[in-house]
Amino acid sequence: MIGKLNHVAIAVPDLDAATATYRDGLGAKVSPQQPEPDHGVTVVFVELPNTKIELLHPLGDGSPIQGFLDKNPSGGIHHVCYEVEDIYSARDHLKEQGARVLGDGEPKTGAHGKPVLFLHPKDFNGTLIELEQA
Ligand code: CO
Repeated sequence: MIGKLNHVAIAVPDLDAATATYRDGLGAKVSPQQPEPDHGVTVVFVELPNTKIELLHPLGDGSPIQGFLDKNPSGGIHHVCYEVEDIYSARDHLKEQGARVLGDGEPKTGAHGKPVLFLHPKDFNGTLIELEQA
Protein backbone atom coordinates (compact mmCIF):
# COMPACT_ATOMS: atom_id res chain seq x y z
CA MET A 1 0.00 0.00 0.00
CA ILE A 2 2.69 2.55 0.92
CA GLY A 3 4.82 3.89 -1.89
CA LYS A 4 7.80 6.21 -1.91
CA LEU A 5 9.38 7.75 1.14
CA ASN A 6 8.25 11.37 0.74
CA HIS A 7 10.32 12.87 3.55
CA VAL A 8 11.93 12.40 6.92
CA ALA A 9 11.15 15.22 9.36
CA ILE A 10 13.74 16.26 11.93
CA ALA A 11 12.81 18.57 14.80
CA VAL A 12 15.62 21.06 15.45
CA PRO A 13 16.21 23.50 18.30
CA ASP A 14 18.06 26.03 16.08
CA LEU A 15 16.80 26.26 12.52
CA ASP A 16 19.59 28.52 11.24
CA ALA A 17 22.25 26.22 12.65
CA ALA A 18 20.56 23.07 11.31
CA THR A 19 20.17 24.66 7.86
CA ALA A 20 23.85 25.59 7.84
CA THR A 21 24.77 22.03 8.84
CA TYR A 22 22.89 20.59 5.86
CA ARG A 23 23.91 23.33 3.38
CA ASP A 24 27.53 23.93 4.33
CA GLY A 25 28.53 20.74 6.14
CA LEU A 26 26.62 18.11 4.18
CA GLY A 27 26.53 20.08 0.93
CA ALA A 28 22.77 19.75 0.34
CA LYS A 29 20.37 22.07 -1.45
CA VAL A 30 18.14 23.79 1.13
CA SER A 31 15.04 25.96 0.72
CA PRO A 32 14.35 29.28 2.42
CA GLN A 33 12.56 29.07 5.77
CA GLN A 34 8.84 28.52 5.20
CA PRO A 35 6.45 29.45 8.04
CA GLU A 36 3.49 27.07 8.35
CA PRO A 37 1.31 28.81 10.96
CA ASP A 38 -1.53 26.30 10.53
CA HIS A 39 0.84 23.52 11.60
CA GLY A 40 2.76 25.48 14.24
CA VAL A 41 6.13 24.99 12.55
CA THR A 42 8.69 26.72 10.38
CA VAL A 43 10.11 24.33 7.79
CA VAL A 44 13.28 24.18 5.74
CA PHE A 45 13.19 21.62 2.93
CA VAL A 46 16.43 19.78 2.19
CA GLU A 47 16.32 18.40 -1.35
CA LEU A 48 18.01 15.05 -1.86
CA PRO A 49 18.09 13.14 -5.17
CA ASN A 50 15.61 10.51 -3.93
CA THR A 51 13.66 12.17 -1.12
CA LYS A 52 13.49 15.22 1.15
CA ILE A 53 14.47 16.04 4.68
CA GLU A 54 12.28 18.56 6.48
CA LEU A 55 13.85 20.55 9.28
CA LEU A 56 11.05 21.53 11.68
CA HIS A 57 11.20 24.29 14.24
CA PRO A 58 8.36 25.39 16.56
CA LEU A 59 6.32 28.41 15.43
CA GLY A 60 4.05 30.18 17.90
CA ASP A 61 2.54 28.91 21.13
CA GLY A 62 1.38 25.32 21.40
CA SER A 63 3.48 24.02 18.51
CA PRO A 64 2.97 20.27 18.09
CA ILE A 65 6.74 19.74 18.11
CA GLN A 66 7.53 21.73 21.26
CA GLY A 67 6.93 18.75 23.55
CA PHE A 68 9.19 16.61 21.37
CA LEU A 69 12.01 19.17 21.63
CA ASP A 70 11.48 19.45 25.38
CA LYS A 71 12.15 15.69 25.59
CA ASN A 72 14.89 15.78 22.94
CA PRO A 73 16.67 19.11 23.46
CA SER A 74 19.29 18.50 20.76
CA GLY A 75 16.58 17.55 18.24
CA GLY A 76 15.77 14.24 16.61
CA ILE A 77 13.80 12.39 13.96
CA HIS A 78 10.18 13.40 14.48
CA HIS A 79 8.34 11.45 11.75
CA VAL A 80 8.65 9.71 8.41
CA CYS A 81 6.22 10.33 5.56
CA TYR A 82 5.16 7.63 3.12
CA GLU A 83 3.15 8.26 -0.02
CA VAL A 84 -0.15 6.50 -0.66
CA GLU A 85 -2.35 6.63 -3.73
CA ASP A 86 -5.66 6.97 -1.88
CA ILE A 87 -5.53 8.33 1.64
CA TYR A 88 -9.12 7.38 2.50
CA SER A 89 -8.75 3.74 1.51
CA ALA A 90 -5.37 3.62 3.30
CA ARG A 91 -6.96 5.04 6.45
CA ASP A 92 -9.90 2.66 6.35
CA HIS A 93 -7.62 -0.34 5.80
CA LEU A 94 -5.37 0.69 8.72
CA LYS A 95 -8.33 1.26 11.05
CA GLU A 96 -9.63 -2.21 10.19
CA GLN A 97 -6.21 -3.53 11.26
CA GLY A 98 -6.58 -1.75 14.60
CA ALA A 99 -4.18 1.14 13.94
CA ARG A 100 -4.96 4.48 15.52
CA VAL A 101 -5.21 7.59 13.36
CA LEU A 102 -4.35 10.80 15.22
CA GLY A 103 -6.75 13.73 15.54
CA ASP A 104 -10.28 13.36 14.25
CA GLY A 105 -9.21 10.85 11.61
CA GLU A 106 -9.91 13.20 8.72
CA PRO A 107 -7.05 14.10 6.34
CA LYS A 108 -5.66 17.62 6.67
CA THR A 109 -3.77 19.66 4.10
CA GLY A 110 -0.05 19.13 4.71
CA ALA A 111 3.03 21.25 4.04
CA HIS A 112 2.94 20.37 0.32
CA GLY A 113 -0.75 21.21 -0.15
CA LYS A 114 -1.75 17.55 -0.27
CA PRO A 115 -3.95 15.55 2.15
CA VAL A 116 -2.08 13.96 5.05
CA LEU A 117 -2.82 11.82 8.11
CA PHE A 118 -0.70 10.82 11.10
CA LEU A 119 -0.64 7.33 12.66
CA HIS A 120 -0.04 6.63 16.32
CA PRO A 121 3.64 5.79 17.02
CA LYS A 122 2.70 3.07 19.50
CA ASP A 123 1.18 1.10 16.63
CA PHE A 124 4.32 1.47 14.44
CA ASN A 125 7.38 0.56 16.48
CA GLY A 126 7.68 3.93 18.14
CA THR A 127 7.69 5.88 14.88
CA LEU A 128 5.24 8.64 14.09
CA ILE A 129 4.10 7.99 10.52
CA GLU A 130 2.63 10.57 8.18
CA LEU A 131 0.75 9.37 5.11
CA GLU A 132 0.51 11.74 2.18
CA GLN A 133 -1.68 11.26 -0.85
CA ALA A 134 0.78 11.65 -3.71
CO1 CO B 1 5.84 15.70 7.41
